Order: sequence, then C-alpha cells, then structure tokens
Amino acid sequence: MALSGAQRRRLDARLEALGHGGGPAQLAAHLRSPSGAADLARLVDAVAVHTSEVFRDEVQLAAFREHVLSPRVQRSKTPLRVWSAGCAAGEEVATLLLMMAQEGADPASRVLGTDISEQVLTRARELSFPAEALRRVPEGPRARYFEPRGRRHALVGSLRAQAEFRRHNLMEAPYPEAPGGGGFDVIFCRNVLIYFTPDAFQRTVRSLSERLAPGGVLVLSAAEPLLQVPPELRLLPSEHAFFYVREDAPAVEAPRPKRDSTAPKPDVPVPPDETAMADWLFSCVLDGASTGVPDERSERDLRRCLDLDPDHVAARYLLGLLLEQCGQPGAALEAYRRALRAVESGRARPVPFFLNLPRLRVACARAVERLEAEGAR
Ligand SMILES: C[S@@+](CC[C@H](N)C(=O)[O-])C[C@H]1O[C@@H](n2cnc3c(N)ncnc32)[C@H](O)[C@@H]1O
Repeated sequence: MALSGAQRRRLDARLEALGHGGGPAQLAAHLRSPSGAADLARLVDAVAVHTSEVFRDEVQLAAFREHVLSPRVQRSKTPLRVWSAGCAAGEEVATLLLMMAQEGADPASRVLGTDISEQVLTRARELSFPAEALRRVPEGPRARYFEPRGRRHALVGSLRAQAEFRRHNLMEAPYPEAPGGGGFDVIFCRNVLIYFTPDAFQRTVRSLSERLAPGGVLVLSAAEPLLQVPPELRLLPSEHAFFYVREDAPAVEAPRPKRDSTAPKPDVPVPPDETAMADWLFSCVLDGASTGVPDERSERDLRRCLDLDPDHVAARYLLGLLLEQCGQPGAALEAYRRALRAVESGRARPVPFFLNLPRLRVACARAVERLEAEGAR
C-alpha cells in the first residue's frame, strides 16, 4: 500500500503501542504467528479505508447495467458468478445482488465478497446497513429489497443467501476460484487499487484478469483507468464509464496491432483548432492504452496535448499516472500538482473523461498526498 501521511501516523501509533523492542524481524515473526493474528488485524485496520455505500457511483453502475449486466442476463440464463474484491462492509455486494435481481438473473447466481479486514467482514456478513449507506438507493428498490432490522436495513433473505464472504488479501496467491471453476463472469475491484503502489496495482490487475471467465468483465473505479492493459483484456468504453473484457484466447496468438496513435483515424478528420486538437490527441492516448501503444508514445502524445492546452486536467492526470508507472515519482508529483492547481483556479474545462472535474480534483489531491508521503520531490 502507498500510505498517506495520516495512515502512516495511525500505523506508527499502533506499532508504538505494540512495542517491538526485539526489532523488526522479531515483530514480523510475531505478526505471522497464530498468536500475533489479532495484533496484525489491528494494524491492518489502522490503515484500511472502508468507506463505501450501496449504489456507489450510480453513473458507472447505470453503464454497467446497460452494457454488461443486462446483455449477459439476456444472452445466457446460466447463473452468474460475481466477485467483489475489497468489499468493505458488504455495500457493493448488496448493490450487485440487488441489480442482478432487478435484471432477472438466475437465483442460483452467487456474489463472493472478499476483504483483507476480518473486522469489516464481520459487519459485511450481516448485509444490513444504516440509513446513510442506503441514501443513493431509490425508494422503490429500497422498499422491495431491504427490510427493517432495528435501526438498520437488512437485505432480504433470498438475496442474502446468494452472498458469501471470505477473507482474502489481494497481495497473496492463490486468488479465490469461481464456484464450479471456469472463472468469474464479473469482478468488481473499485476504490481499492488507488491505495496500492503502482507495482502492486499492475500485479493485482493481472491476477484479477486471470480469474475472469472468457468474456468476463473487470470493473475498476473511475479513478483507476489502466495505462497498461494486460494483453488478454480489451477496453470496453461507454459514454460515462469504462470496463475491461477478457477476450477468448485466440487459437493462434495473433500479434496485437500497434497503432500509430498520432496517425489520423480514417473516419475522423483532424480537428482544426487547438483545444479540439488537444482533445483529439487525448482520445488517441485513451484508445492506445488498450491496443498496446508503447508508454513513450503515450507520453509524447500527452505532452503534445498539454502544449496545446496546458490546463487539460485529464491529460495532466494521465501523464502523472504514466510517469509514476515509469518510475518517475518526482515528475509525476509535479504533474498532479499542476493538474490540481488548474482545477482549483477554475481554468480547467470539462473534457470527455471517466472522471469529471470534482472527481479529478480528489484523485489529484490524493496522488499528491501519497507521493509527498513517500518523499517524492
Ligand atoms: C474504500 S473500500 C472500497 C469498497 C468498495 N469496493 C467500494 O468501492 O465502495 C477499500 C476496501 O479494500 C480493502 N483492502 C485494502 N487492501 C486490501 C488488500 N490488500 N486485499 C483485500 N482488500 C483490501 C479495505 O479493507 C477496504 O475495505
């Protein structure tokens, strides 16, 4: 994990309380031993962020329903196998079960929720939520799929029976298997990878994609677009969201097309003015991420885009991600800071991207905090 300043301070305080006079090696051995399990769990909970809500990010969920869930239910009546990796207190699992019921998925469908934190999983297993966690659920489905339980609202029993929860650390192999083998139809891993280092982020994406069934879909949050899409995944963009689909392995490994992202697309005329040209270059970079365009070319295109429009915040944010991924934390930090200044000063204009300006602001601020805590300059 890439710890923020606040997380580091909380972790330090717990370590201090634990006392580790015997040195780091002895402390690590204690934490790995059965008698250290409770201490380890407390350390994990000092740094884990469990914020979530039922129906979190309705825009992305609406696109998921339209482009992924509904077509899959129409196409095949077989039960769905879904995994919510980093499920917090079960909010995402409840969201998925509810949407699957609304779309008429086979009742034998299953949703697996996993998290590193036992503490949060104990709450998740109840699948019951305080009213604030349901504020995004429209009245109709709320009345139909939740029942009062004291001051809380529990998902109805028939849907609760379709859920399973298990502890799993995404840093550890083996990853869970889908019921019956053959991979998951859908994996949600939202707002988990943003806390990881770039290397852990990439490794996790590769491991998750290995657990997808052919045609299965990986759903990351809007703040987590991939700049290196594993070869077996294809980008499925929609107007307001993006998903990654696992392609069926071709019988003979065909070379992936290396498109020249700066060459005009045949059916798209090169736009005349500078901002339109900047947007066009930016869209070429997004496209290129799923067709194997090398990082150097993406970086060159992003820089050209920024020469034309220095306040193109989405391009500046992607440049930050790319530089971080290429091992240049100092340059990445500068890119995030400039992006943040452009949004805060009101100079940035909205452009078609998965993150709108308020969310880009949050993503950039988080990245700055994270890199500063790591000592990047
Ligand atoms: C911010 S919550 C996201 C919850 C939900 N996916 C959503 O988008 O609303 C992140 C969750 O990831 C979990 N997490 C963090 N690191 C993890 C790891 N290495 N393996 C599994 N879960 C992890 C945390 O415990 C936390 O519950």
